[in-house]
Amino acid sequence: MTMTSIKLWRSLLSVPAINQRALQKSKTLAADAIIYDLEDAVAPEKKAEARENLKRLYGETRPQGVTAIRVNPLDTEAGNEDLKTVLACRPDAVLLPKVGNVATMEAAGALLEQNGAATRMKLWAMIETPEGVVNAAAIAGACSDVRTGGRLAALIVGVNDLRAETGVAPSPGRAYLVPWLMQTVLAARAYGLHVVDGVYNDFADHEGYAAECAEGAAMGFDGKMLIHPSQIDAANRHFSPSEDAVAEARAIIAAFAKPGAAALNVIDLDGRMVERLHLEQAEALLAGMVAIQTTKETQ
Ligand code: COA
Ligand code: MG
Repeated sequence: MTMTSIKLWRSLLSVPAINQRALQKSKTLAADAIIYDLEDAVAPEKKAEARENLKRLYGETRPQGVTAIRVNPLDTEAGNEDLKTVLACRPDAVLLPKVGNVATMEAAGALLEQNGAATRMKLWAMIETPEGVVNAAAIAGACSDVRTGGRLAALIVGVNDLRAETGVAPSPGRAYLVPWLMQTVLAARAYGLHVVDGVYNDFADHEGYAAECAEGAAMGFDGKMLIHPSQIDAANRHFSPSEDAVAEARAIIAAFAKPGAAALNVIDLDGRMVERLHLEQAEALLAGMVAIQTTKETQ
């Protein structure tokens, strides 16, 4: 059984592990990753049943794409039970909720290590508490810490918890949340981690959702956490490079490939300054497009 390497982060759909129909449907959807949730989407008295559902789901035919399991905090009894489910199911990643400090990451890394989880099983951390935002940089820095086994791969923002804990009201544009969202993006980028925007609750409001996808992409997020299948296509679109961006990347690569440009760090492209760092960006963008194309072909 091979684990899927995680290349695309545009759309991460949360699926309550208690919902049988949603679990079955999740195997047919074009999200870049599925997050099976044992935490907030499952009531305490239903958690045991939800864990059994996941064991059955992974046992039948293993889900094809990238999957994560969101556990309860691992220092709780529920989290301890969830860990057993994780070890049985072997998802690509374990999503830790409400991460507030580095110690939580270290403890999770140590638990996976002690239980012999493959090193390819990654940790993703939800940044969704005031403490988590304040410590985002230190938490992201734990990715290179041997005590986490180098497993930390991504930060995911939890906007509902953040609003609940701070008193920030929902609003279009998320003006008062943006500083904390940007702090999380910066922390992730400082340590080369992926970073994913939070959910949009009103899944019937396609216009508002599209606007928030566009904002998230402009803020530098790699993608968005989703709650409903109808949100997948727009996220995949908004977090993919636009046609203009692809054309621009090709033009930059072509310009730097000209014989006279080989020894130059800065060139003139149709009246605009382009630096070698833009060339690297252009190459990364086209590499991303290849991954997107490959995903489309295998669906
Ligand atoms: N993943 C997979 N399938 C889902 C889904 C999800 N997150 N949400 C809905 N579906 C499925 C439904 O099962 C239904 O499938 P069917 O046609 O086979 O019956 C179909 O999509 C249409 O669903 P719909 O009737 O529009 O929604 P709903 O009323 O069943 O569910 C929610 C609405 C919000 C309860 C549901 O989308 C949900 O639970 N989302 C995830 C919540 C979550 O994970 N929260 C924690 C993280 S913030
Ligand atoms: Mg939460």
